Amino acid sequence: MKKIILSSVLALGLGTTSAFAAGGGQAHDHDFSFEGPFGKFDQNQLQRGLQVYQEVCSACHGLRQVAFRTLGDEGGPHLTEDQVKGFAANFDVYDAELDDTRTAKPADKFPASGVENAPDLSLMAKARAGFSGPYGLGINQIVKGMGGPEYILDVLTSYTGEEKTQAGVTLYENTAFPGGWIAMAPPISDEQVEFADGHKNDVEHMGEDVSAFLMWAAEPKMMVRKWTGFLSVGFLLLLTVLLYLTNKKLWAPHKRKA
Ligand code: HEC
Repeated sequence: MKKIILSSVLALGLGTTSAFAAGGGQAHDHDFSFEGPFGKFDQNQLQRGLQVYQEVCSACHGLRQVAFRTLGDEGGPHLTEDQVKGFAANFDVYDAELDDTRTAKPADKFPASGVENAPDLSLMAKARAGFSGPYGLGINQIVKGMGGPEYILDVLTSYTGEEKTQAGVTLYENTAFPGGWIAMAPPISDEQVEFADGHKNDVEHMGEDVSAFLMWAAEPKMMVRKWTGFLSVGFLLLLTVLLYLTNKKLWAPHKRKA
């Protein structure tokens, strides 16, 4: 009986792992500044990631859940008002009232994907799990986080250089992408983007910056969430102590009598 239960738990576990693990296995663990209970987004990194997104990824991918004005938010890339205006002006958006495209304003959202099969990246960092298991238990995700940004970084850095054509589509071998072949040509190459702060611009570093930026895009209020959680736990602890003392005090006279 024990054996049956154990094996069915294992089978269920393995089944769920393969169903939910989106990566081509385990993503490589990577230390991002925003990890851990006190982790924070690194403003300079987000600005560099935004630049990579604009200069490279936006040619194909959309970010249509993200409004330009949020780029000015504290805790995010924190651009100045003028920078946000200037940045938005790089994009054209469709205006339903005009029934035409016009230059984007801070209140607009980033445009949608320009390439049909390129997925929108707004929630990509939360939609993919880089870590799974062991045995479908999801313990890795509790310890290392969901691994969305790690997965994106892995996709950007796991091209083998092999390509093949299938039904008229060129596929590129990528060991991080499920199935091993992705329809996205390697999007970044060393020194493709020049950073104003002189930060390293090899594929790994640019990939790290754009992955961090996409994590912010998917969860701009992550720091507020962590802080709220921390405060709530703090208050609960305080309440526990006060209740304990109250309880003690209320019962003290009766206990003495006995
Ligand atoms: C030339 C067009 C093009 C550019 C530029 C491009 N991509 Fe893609 N990307 C695609 C296409 C097409 C797909 C869908 C691939 C597939 O499903 O096989 C894709 C898929 C992806 C995926 C999804 C993987 C998944 O699990 O579904 C991620 C993440 C991604 N791109 C990130 C980026 C980032 C980050 C950049 C900028 C550094 C970028 N892409 C630049 C075309 C592009």
